[in-house]
Amino acid sequence: MLEGGPLRRGYDVDENAIRFSNYFHVLRELVHMSCGWLPLAAEFETKYRLGDHVHDDARAISKLRRRLYELRHPSDYPGSPGDELAGLLDRLEAAASTGEYLETAYGEAKPVLVAAIRVHLDNLDPVSDEPSLRLLTKLAANQERHMKELAAGSRQSAEQRSERIEDLGALPIALKGEPRPLRILPPLTDPARDEFVEVTDEGDPFLRQELYVNDPELNHVPIEAEEQRHFFHGLMDAELTAAELMARNSHEHPEMPWDFHVDMARQTWDEVRHAKVHYMLMPTELGCRWGDYPVTFSYFRSIYAHDLLGRLALFNSTSEQRAMWRHSRRREALMQRGQEKVAMVFDYLLADEVPHVHNGVRWGAHLLGGDDSAYRAKVSELRESLDETGAPQSQTVEEPGLGVGGSTTSRR
Ligand SMILES: [Fe+2]
Ligand SMILES: [Fe+2]
Repeated sequence: MLEGGPLRRGYDVDENAIRFSNYFHVLRELVHMSCGWLPLAAEFETKYRLGDHVHDDARAISKLRRRLYELRHPSDYPGSPGDELAGLLDRLEAAASTGEYLETAYGEAKPVLVAAIRVHLDNLDPVSDEPSLRLLTKLAANQERHMKELAAGSRQSAEQRSERIEDLGALPIALKGEPRPLRILPPLTDPARDEFVEVTDEGDPFLRQELYVNDPELNHVPIEAEEQRHFFHGLMDAELTAAELMARNSHEHPEMPWDFHVDMARQTWDEVRHAKVHYMLMPTELGCRWGDYPVTFSYFRSIYAHDLLGRLALFNSTSEQRAMWRHSRRREALMQRGQEKVAMVFDYLLADEVPHVHNGVRWGAHLLGGDDSAYRAKVSELRESLDETGAPQSQTVEEPGLGVGGSTTSRR
């Protein structure tokens, strides 16, 4: 039997849409700024959480956009923030460090968002507006989880708390207002690692070129315990580098279509999750820990120096594409040796790599007016500057000691 009882009147459609527009603006700013700060978060746990939350929030925005469209409102940009909301967004943009940003994002913006959603859930009509009920229930649960996982805000002063927005959903939206531009952080010099991780120009000298070549005659799968320790440590750092590059691609290009940001957020999460796999595997299966060996930022720098098209061509369409072959070879070799748990890791790394490579083609072609063949030509052109391991050749020349036997790049 369906439940009876009177309908709750709930919000009218326009009021409802205005609430969703306010949530949209907060989440858009959070995805944008979290992507900007992620590379600068030194602690692995913070970096991992940010990557996970950015993905949740990007997906939430897609759902909000859909709901706004259903409520007959513009979904690409549902009106401009009113003054009070703009004040909150300004505070998110004004942070001068990762710590400050986390304080505002997790100590103010997310709590204010959750409070508004709770008001919304208490007042909406659960039958006529059931789509909102479902969406908001999930959104509130995710936001509460985020706040628990990255507990900031406890240090917010009473004064800061008092200027908090009471009901974010009820704030006015300028429906015909100009879109609010997003602040882009200054270009990165280097990303950050946990303070106990040693960063050097050379990286881990133990990692040899043969680990990273795609030639079936020359490629070496690490099988000895000692070389596996170094190899997986390097792999974890390479995953962090991948996450940082994708997060920055999104942050530095707010002009790209929304789906691009969803794809970058997904890949950022995948890459920090891959890092977490290695982080867990090292002490349990291999007898080492994150921080046992030095890492280098030379590969990060070589990719980050390019524009978006160059980064997609060199990273997604070259480095990740070539890593697929090596992952499947590693998986096979380790399976044969009976290291099943370690081998299985490569099964998932390989599976996740397929959409990552696709991100390169999809958005690279988009940047070239949708021309796939122009993108392929660009990829071939840029590949000519690489050595057989995918590292830029110029580096080999500029940095002696890089050649035989000494890898300076964090690769996969
Ligand atoms: Fe990865
Ligand atoms: Fe990847």
